[in-house]
Amino acid sequence: MNSRFDQAIDRRKSGCFKYDALSILHGRDDVLSMWVADMDFAVSEEIQSALSERLKHPVFGYNYRLPDFYEAVQLWQKTRFAWATQEDWIVAVPGIVPGISLAVLSLTEPGDGVLIQTPVYPPFFNAATDHGRHLITSPLINNNGLYSIDWEDLETKLKQAKLFILCSPHNPISRVWSREELCKMGHLCQKHGVIVFSDEIHEDLVYPGFKHIPFASIEDFAEITITGISPAKSFNIAGLATAVLMISNPKLRKPVKVLNEKLHLYMGNSFGIRALIAAYHDSEVWLEELLQYLNVTREMIVDFFQREIPSVKVSPIEGTYLAWMDFKDWELDDAELQNIMLNKALIALEPGIKYGEDGKGYMRLNFGCPRSTVIEALNRIKNLQGML
Ligand SMILES: Cc1ncc(COP(=O)(O)O)c(C=O)c1O
Repeated sequence: MNSRFDQAIDRRKSGCFKYDALSILHGRDDVLSMWVADMDFAVSEEIQSALSERLKHPVFGYNYRLPDFYEAVQLWQKTRFAWATQEDWIVAVPGIVPGISLAVLSLTEPGDGVLIQTPVYPPFFNAATDHGRHLITSPLINNNGLYSIDWEDLETKLKQAKLFILCSPHNPISRVWSREELCKMGHLCQKHGVIVFSDEIHEDLVYPGFKHIPFASIEDFAEITITGISPAKSFNIAGLATAVLMISNPKLRKPVKVLNEKLHLYMGNSFGIRALIAAYHDSEVWLEELLQYLNVTREMIVDFFQREIPSVKVSPIEGTYLAWMDFKDWELDDAELQNIMLNKALIALEPGIKYGEDGKGYMRLNFGCPRSTVIEALNRIKNLQGML
């Protein structure tokens, strides 16, 4: 065993969505579970000991965040992304998805346009449709697996939008937007008076050669931006329900904060608060090790598909631990594709169609697990070729 991340951990019966909901959601549980985006890795020792330490104090009443919470968030942004922030910009929330809904509900009216770039993380659709907002989609251009922005379409759609939900880095296509792209998006939003929710939950999961730039750190974009930040993906603590919104403009911050308080979403989780601090303050070495491990896996995936399964195109993986695979050459409809993956390859994946119409014929694979599991999955997909 070369890396701590090679260790297989049995998560079944721990009450986890990824394994314990397999039967209910996918119809069987005797499969490799590579769908929902959390990792099968143990969290850092620093997070584990911070939680054990908290447990020694046997009272778990309502929380009050001490300065170390805010300092940890700010220090992380400053040292990793050169983004200088202020404590009073921070609005603590239980997750980025509730944060998006808070922004939609407090900064737009029923019927207002909410713009997203597809294919994209499914709750972005719901953030508009569940709240009676008008969903506007600007499909990304797919050039042989590499996605880019259709600038003409984006500008046309921005004219009808009040809020733009940006996914940066972008799930599921694994793009890390460049400074040039972010600048161009920001200028268009400014030109058309559009507020931006920049979901940066995948900010830390970026591979060599790419750089995450906080959207609000560019020029004066902070004025129009709500940034969603969370240690949930990078440090594998999604179950601790702890995230923050960074909002420098008080005109945007106040309504979001008021609604957050009205809905009583701000109190937080005693363990989540400790875990966030231990993640951002003490777990950078663990994160770097994780990134090295994931980087080797990502290179292996791309190489494997090129050599062994050339009929499937994998988009370049610039960030995230998600591989976006184009199976259109297999000429199966989505039900058939899902069926063969689940019942022949015995792998639970996310069907691309969940990410919008332009996800038809795609599947998303979560490679945040020991490399041996990924190798097994790749071989199973390879063997499907003979069954087509
Ligand atoms: C882009 C994006 N935003 C938000 C989330 C979930 O955020 P949270 O669990 O903090 O609500 C995910 C999870 O996969 C995601 O990929």
